[in-house]
Amino acid sequence: MVEICRFMDPPSPRENPGDAVQKLVEYIKANMGPDDKGLLALSGGVDSSVVAELCKRAVPGRVILFHIDHGFMRRFNGRKESDLVCGGFSGYPGFKFQEAGDFFYKYVFGVEDSDEKRAGFRHAYSELLKEVMKKHGCDVFLDGTIKPDIEEVDAGIKLQHNPGLEDKYGAEKVIEPLAGMIKAEVRALAKELGIPHLRPPFPGPGLAVRTPGAIDLKRLEVEKQANDIVETEFPGYFREKQGAEMVIGPNGEQKPFQYFAATFIRRGREEAKSSGKVRACKEHLAALGIPSAGVRILGTKVTGKTPEDKRVYDDAICITADIRPGLWPEVAGIAERGLLGIARVLLDISGTCKGKPVYDVVIRAVDSTDARTAKVSDVSPDFLKSLSGRITSECRDVGNVFFDITPKPPATIEYE
Ligand code: XMP
Repeated sequence: MVEICRFMDPPSPRENPGDAVQKLVEYIKANMGPDDKGLLALSGGVDSSVVAELCKRAVPGRVILFHIDHGFMRRFNGRKESDLVCGGFSGYPGFKFQEAGDFFYKYVFGVEDSDEKRAGFRHAYSELLKEVMKKHGCDVFLDGTIKPDIEEVDAGIKLQHNPGLEDKYGAEKVIEPLAGMIKAEVRALAKELGIPHLRPPFPGPGLAVRTPGAIDLKRLEVEKQANDIVETEFPGYFREKQGAEMVIGPNGEQKPFQYFAATFIRRGREEAKSSGKVRACKEHLAALGIPSAGVRILGTKVTGKTPEDKRVYDDAICITADIRPGLWPEVAGIAERGLLGIARVLLDISGTCKGKPVYDVVIRAVDSTDARTAKVSDVSPDFLKSLSGRITSECRDVGNVFFDITPKPPATIEYE
């Protein structure tokens, strides 16, 4: 039986970051036996980077920092994310890197069903790490899992790539030092530790959960390009608008919390099958004084939260109309509590598309404190139009670009 050590009641790093760092270092020290050798799954995001720095202080030289490029990682301005992670950590003792795209693709490519695709990713992830643990003689597994990840997975709202795999790595013990923290607290720790603390979160399976339905290399490439445009343009936009790429309020709200692009296979017109939803949406818009909007269904089901706080896959409604941002919350109200089987409301920001496109792209930008709830970020329509222009001209075969105006709940942040 694997022993799971989760530090559930750490002191708040937002009040006294120095004390929190010290207690976390002590926690890792106390839970690593004198002869234990650890392996940390290092994605390079804020959470696992904080654990890497804590391990360096707590048990120097006794933890391998293992970074995998699983093939679904991002690019920033055309540079591979794993190059940046390797650049940042190559000076750390015990840093190791493995390029494993081909291994993960075997389990993920071509899988239509979202839950099966996630299961394929989880299987590849645990198999690879089990192999690595064995090869390096490690008995303790560490990761940067945080509190909302555990709680939302337990509640059935969210699917996550790692919770639930604890007994699959071949470890005697799993240590999760950040299990009692929310994102804003981890950012405060990162700041105290002197490591980059403002990066938006990125899900473990990466772009695999931003390409709902079956993926192949061509589609993944389009997603990488579109996401690169969105993730490299947003920081400059927010710096200009609010003086910083992210502002963290006194209550821990991060503005923006996360922004990204998702890529969908463009389907034929789906209204016929779901005409009730389209009609309900048109009536809803007319009642809001928007009488002649184009309304269609995206054609791929996406995730939402039911009134009972469970995860559900449902339709996304695409609206073509000039709607001012002040009205977005009311327009998105059609998805309220998942009553009509509508999980998302997407605004067309691209206008007419030419040729025979294969994909549609959805841009998402949200503010949040802990990712359990999220508000749509205040983004100007002109900036969205400029993003859409870059995406349609630089990414092959993209037709429409949409902006998601649905909060969480009733939506989730990612699309599967
Ligand atoms: P959702 O989409 O469930 O996401 O509202 C909430 C937060 O969790 C992130 N997320 C993940 N992170 N592995 C991760 O490490 C995953 O499998 C995963 N799924 C979602 C998501 O990006 C958001 O910040």
